[in-house]
Amino acid sequence: MSDAALDVVEFLLTTSVYSDDRTLDENDLPPSVRRVYWTGGADDDGDGGDGRKHAGISRPLSATNSTAREATGVTQPWEAISDLMFTDRDEFSGTITLVEDRLAEQWFVERVDDDRLRENPTLAKHFTTHEEFGDKFDVTHEEAREQNRPIQADRVWIDGLLEEYFDEEEDEEMLDLVEVRAPEEVDMSLEDLVLTDDQENELDKISKAIEHRDYLANIGLREIGKLLFVGPPGTGKTSTAQALAQNMDLPFVEVKLSMITSQYLGETAKNVDKTFEVAKRLSPCILFIDEFDFVAKTRRSDEHAALKRAVNTLLKSIDNISLIEDDVLLIGATNHPDQLDDAAWRRFDEIINFPKPDHNMRADILGVITRTMDIEEFDPQLIADVTQGLTGSDLRMVLREAVLEALTEDRTTLTQQDLLDAVEEFEERDTLKNMDMMGGDHDALVAGGDLGGDGGHSHDHGHDHDHNH
Ligand SMILES: Nc1ncnc2c1ncn2[C@@H]1O[C@H](COP(=O)(O)OP(=O)(O)O)[C@@H](O)[C@H]1O
Ligand SMILES: [Mg+2]
Repeated sequence: MSDAALDVVEFLLTTSVYSDDRTLDENDLPPSVRRVYWTGGADDDGDGGDGRKHAGISRPLSATNSTAREATGVTQPWEAISDLMFTDRDEFSGTITLVEDRLAEQWFVERVDDDRLRENPTLAKHFTTHEEFGDKFDVTHEEAREQNRPIQADRVWIDGLLEEYFDEEEDEEMLDLVEVRAPEEVDMSLEDLVLTDDQENELDKISKAIEHRDYLANIGLREIGKLLFVGPPGTGKTSTAQALAQNMDLPFVEVKLSMITSQYLGETAKNVDKTFEVAKRLSPCILFIDEFDFVAKTRRSDEHAALKRAVNTLLKSIDNISLIEDDVLLIGATNHPDQLDDAAWRRFDEIINFPKPDHNMRADILGVITRTMDIEEFDPQLIADVTQGLTGSDLRMVLREAVLEALTEDRTTLTQQDLLDAVEEFEERDTLKNMDMMGGDHDALVAGGDLGGDGGHSHDHGHDHDHNH
C-alpha cells in the first residue's frame, strides 16, 4: 500500500474526527490541514456590517479531491484510496468520505506509528482515548499538541491578521515598513550560524525566559525581553534574529526604519502604532527593528516634524511592549552603536555584541557555508589565516565568487586554490573599504594576497589576534 493512501486516509480521518469533536480547536489540526480550512480577513459577502468576518475554521470540514490534494500533496487523492473498501466519493459534490469508520480506523491503526500519530493532535486524542485502540500507542494528546506548531505561526493566520489591520489601499506604504514572515518561511536556522560563546549564552537565556514567562510574570520580573544586537554589517545580526524565530516557531515581524523616510510620512506614526498592535496580536512573536541608530540620528538632527513624530511614536511603542505581558520579544539591531543616545540604550535590557569573527569562527563559518560543496584539498584553517577582518557575509561572498569562477570553466568541484584566488579577488575589490575598517592590520591583510604557495604561515588555531572584543 502506498504512502499516498495513508496520507489521504489520515486526512479524511482528521477532518471527520475534528468535525465531530467540538472540544478540539485549530491547534489540534496539523498545519497542512488547517491551512486548507482557515478563513479570515476581509469579508467579501457585501452584506455591510463592519466588513470583517470572524477568522477561524468552521465545522464541518468537508473533504474533496482538491482539499485533500492541497493538504496532502498527493496529486490524485481519490485514485490513491478508491480501491479501499471503506471509502466513497460523491460524483456530484466531489466529496470524499469514509463510509465504514471502524474499518478505516483499523486500517489506519495498522499502518501508523507513535511518531506519526504524535504529529496529529486530533488523531492522537481520538486514538489514545479510543475504546478499542486506546492501548496501541504510547502517545498523549498533550504531547502532540505541544509538538504541533501553533496557528499563530501559520502564514494563513498572519495574512488574515494583516488584512484585518491594514486596509490595502490606505496602507500600501505599510508593506514597505513592515515585513511579516511565518517561521515556516524563514530559511535561516541556528545550525547554520557560528556564534560566540557570549552570544550563545544570551540566546539560551532568552529562550529560557520565553519558556518560563508565566513564572517571570508571577515573581514580577518584567524588565526583560528587549535585546540590542550591536556589530558591523555582515556579522549575522539579522540572521540570528531570524534563526531564533525559526528555532522557537515564532512569527518574525521586521520593521525597516529607513522606510520611515518614505514619502507617506503623514501616515507613518499611525502605521508604527499598527505595527506594534499587529505584533501583539501575532504574539508570541519576534519584533525585529533593524537600523536602530536611525532613531537617535533623527532625534538629534533637525528633521521634518512628521518624521520626529513617527520616531517618538516608535519609542513610546517600544516602552509599551513587553515580553512578559505581550509575549513579544523585541530585538533591535545597529551597525553604529556610537550613534545611539542614552535614551535609545536605556530601552534595551541586554546588549549582544556581534564582533567580526575570529580565526576559529571564520574556519567554522567556512565549514558551514561549504557543507554542501565539493572542494578538493579544502583546508578551512588556511583560508581563515588569510581572511582576517572578513565577516561571515564577506566569506559568503568569497565562496560565491569561487563557485561562479569555477563554473566559467564548467567545474562544479572547487579546489582550495579557487578559494584562495577568490579571497585575493575579494581583497582587491575591497581594499579601500578594508583600509578604513582594519586600521593597523591593513598591511598584514594586503600581504595575505600572495599566500598562494605554502609560504611560512603558521596555522595558529589556538588563539587569535584579529580583533579586540
Ligand atoms: N557568524 C556567522 N555564521 C554563519 N553565517 C554568518 C555569520 N555572520 C554572517 N553570516 C552570513 O552572512 C550573511 C549576512 O548576515 P546578516 O545576518 O545579514 O548580517 P547583519 O544583519 O549583521 O548585517 C548571512 O547570509 C549570514 O548567514
Ligand atoms: Mg542586518
